Amino acid sequence: MVRIGTDWKHAAALLMRGALVALPTETVYGLAGRSDDPTVLRRIYAAKNRPGNNPLILHCANLDMVREVAHLDGEALQLAEAFWPGPLTLLLPRREGVLDEACAGLPRVAVRIPDSEQFRAVIAAVGVPLAAPSANMSGYVSPTRAEHVLAGLGTRVDHILDGGPCTAGIESTIVGWNADGVGEVYRLGALTQQVLADQTGRPYPLHQPDLQRPEAPGALAHHYAPHTPVCIDLPQPGDAWVTWSERAAEWSGEPGVHHHRLSATGDLAEAARNLYAALIELDGSGVKRICIEPFPESGLGEALRERVQRAAARPQNSSAA
Ligand code: TXA
Ligand code: MG
Repeated sequence: MVRIGTDWKHAAALLMRGALVALPTETVYGLAGRSDDPTVLRRIYAAKNRPGNNPLILHCANLDMVREVAHLDGEALQLAEAFWPGPLTLLLPRREGVLDEACAGLPRVAVRIPDSEQFRAVIAAVGVPLAAPSANMSGYVSPTRAEHVLAGLGTRVDHILDGGPCTAGIESTIVGWNADGVGEVYRLGALTQQVLADQTGRPYPLHQPDLQRPEAPGALAHHYAPHTPVCIDLPQPGDAWVTWSERAAEWSGEPGVHHHRLSATGDLAEAARNLYAALIELDGSGVKRICIEPFPESGLGEALRERVQRAAARPQNSSAA
């Protein structure tokens, strides 16, 4: 039996002994394990059915711990000081000693300091960074509540620390630097490109992966998709209609359409907080399709659009790695 608990010291003791424990962060729940044990790292990939070429994020308690695994200076340090602890992941040159299993053998390692004080206390107690991908089966929607982890991973996880619903609700923004030293966003997320640019005075364009030779090919296989088809069409009877804008919230609805409001006031942060929970809940509700009102092409809307597009693009009958 997987136990859901609220005692972070118990979670830390289990992690220390090599267990896999789901921990809450401000973005989504992570499937954590100690990053200095190759067996633990391999168990993380196996539990999620995650391709081995899709590297993990190392979660650190503080900057000193980050420096034990990565080189942090220049603009990266500027962003780290501004946004950590918080929903920002940096791709940094790895130090010797970082296990290949943690970064899929790549020269850079992904690192972040999560906002949750409890998560940081757990990391500090374990004493080494915790590798933690989102605590879902690979390809499925990320969990934002402890119950989602239990429903998705079941006995593949040893313990779940319940910290209530995640406050941001979508994954961290990933930033890395190209060979010319230009900062790029590898994954849109809870921190917008504008907020990053306001901090350093430089733009952070989206990284364009070389599709012939992508750096982290496993990342391309991610779909964030429920089993029920997702679309951005208007709903038909039998469908769910997921909305965020004030105008759509007032819509009285057509018969047979299940209206689900992520926000009643057009608040995108609230919509982000509720999106994954809505997808997971509707996935088990028997609706024919999950139709989602298009998100705006700016700010947090960009990250939400991207998640919905990926969910909608899920190839039929794919086992979505
Ligand atoms: O908000 C988050 O980031 C959550 C919480 C738990 O911290 N974690 C999360 O982890 O979303 P995961 O494993 O689901 O997504 C990590 C992403 C993957 O798309 C992976 O390809 C990318 O980070 N990544 C990790 N290391 C990388 C590297 N060296 N180069 C390029 N991409 C990398
Ligand atoms: Mg994930």
